[in-house]
Amino acid sequence: MGAGKTSAARDVAARLGTEPLDADAEIELRAGASIGEIFARDGEPAFRELEERVVLELLDRASDGQPVALGGGAVLSERVREALRAHTVVLLEVSHATAWQRAQHSGRPLAHDRDAFEALWASRQAVYADVADAFIAEGDRQAVVRALPALQQLAAGEPAVRLAWATSAGGDYPVWFGTWPDAGSQDVLISDDRVAGAVLGDWLAETPRLTFAAGEESKTLATAEGLWRALASRGATRRSRIIAVGGGVVGDMAGFVAASYQRGMPVVHVPTTIVAQVDSAYGGKTGVDLPEGKNYVGAYHQPEAVHVLHDVLATLPEEERAAGYAEVVKTALIAGGPLWERVRSGAPVDEDVVLACARTKLGVVAADERDGGLRQVLNLGHTVGHAIETETRYARYRHGEAVSLGLLAALRLSGQDELRGEVRTLLAAAGLPTELDPAIDPSAVAAATRADKKRVGEDTPFVLVRAPGDVVFGQHVAAADLLASVQELQR
Ligand SMILES: NC(=O)c1ccc[n+]([C@@H]2O[C@H](COP(=O)([O-])OP(=O)(O)OC[C@H]3O[C@@H](n4cnc5c(N)ncnc54)[C@H](O)[C@@H]3O)[C@@H](O)[C@H]2O)c1
Repeated sequence: MGAGKTSAARDVAARLGTEPLDADAEIELRAGASIGEIFARDGEPAFRELEERVVLELLDRASDGQPVALGGGAVLSERVREALRAHTVVLLEVSHATAWQRAQHSGRPLAHDRDAFEALWASRQAVYADVADAFIAEGDRQAVVRALPALQQLAAGEPAVRLAWATSAGGDYPVWFGTWPDAGSQDVLISDDRVAGAVLGDWLAETPRLTFAAGEESKTLATAEGLWRALASRGATRRSRIIAVGGGVVGDMAGFVAASYQRGMPVVHVPTTIVAQVDSAYGGKTGVDLPEGKNYVGAYHQPEAVHVLHDVLATLPEEERAAGYAEVVKTALIAGGPLWERVRSGAPVDEDVVLACARTKLGVVAADERDGGLRQVLNLGHTVGHAIETETRYARYRHGEAVSLGLLAALRLSGQDELRGEVRTLLAAAGLPTELDPAIDPSAVAAATRADKKRVGEDTPFVLVRAPGDVVFGQHVAAADLLASVQELQR
């Protein structure tokens, strides 16, 4: 409800020169009554029966490419879900807050009470995720029209492939799950030496390949300069395209090189770590570290596309898998709902978990590309995490390992004892550190949070957790509490 399905079907149909089919409108036409009246007169079960019949008919009748807008509850029917397998199902993402804002005065029978509405929204998320082939991040009304070529490509391609459409002020792009990108004659591949050996093999052997030494230590201006100059010596222009294959370091580096080389060229990301697949490949943040601080120099540069392949994780070392798990837990805490339930059950990081994490990140970035507000929630666990990384010169912990410790500090600062215990167990089970190396000085870590890029004057705002799915940013934390939360990590 309130996602904009009717308008989207209308806009798509107009673009395709066809007529939209709208299940709710068709039901009202046949019943000679509004949906509210049908609910009041015949009850919900009778409505659902009629809805199932009408939807099955419309799905059968729809010609190739003709958009059909379904009512929000239509997919509760197993027969409808079965019939949808022959179609490309597009989920228009909408937060419960936006949905409520749009639906509350609509007179719809299930939009009278806000708590009940939210509960209904939450209860349907898992079904929607299960049935959808494509996900359009909540954005402006035209997002689905801009996504249309990608949706058509999806409809014509392999059934197992899924698509998430990213929207943001800086541009839209497709995130493909289950396909490699095609390389063009002007493309240049950027990777690190480990990924080149473990993942790339002979793939795109014809495409020029630039690699640098694996690891955070390489995320420097010196490496960027080497890549800029290698591109220049190969005669690369702004019409060339970078295909970045690797983890977050490759993505941040190649993205930064793409953002700055000749003032900007396109980049396609093929993330090969869990960190990159659930987080860093989306949202357009690119950059390098300085000795003074992590990610201190960079640019926003949205990718042209992202291609997520589960198979590439097969060669990922166990410690890197664990490091990625910290970002999964962070994302699940932000998302709440089915993703949190799945993660807290100890479920492995499979394709569905990666997709759900990606959708969470895309939703946040769509609302706030440049950290002006909501995007700061993605920093959960990162304020102390980054401070630990900076304080140890990026050498002692992997990013995800530092985030593991940072999450525990953030949950302590949130006053979430029980949740902290649960998260600690999850992190420990994944092989992540839950105790800070005793050789590290907690007061130095606390002091290093003051160098955080998000600091405002003397204060570094924190992201705190009220409950899974209810995360707040811009929170003031007293210096003594911060120090105590880091000291506790050594107990
Ligand atoms: N831009 C963003 O929004 C964002 C978000 C989160 C993290 N980051 C950045 O990401 C970086 C961390 O990313 P990461 O954890 O992916 O680290 P990483 O890129 O260093 O990869 C970890 C290690 O795994 C190797 N590797 C990668 N894929 C492999 C594969 N499939 N098989 C075998 N080995 C493989 C790499 O060579 C490297 O040695 C940090 O610099 C962090 O700041 C950026």
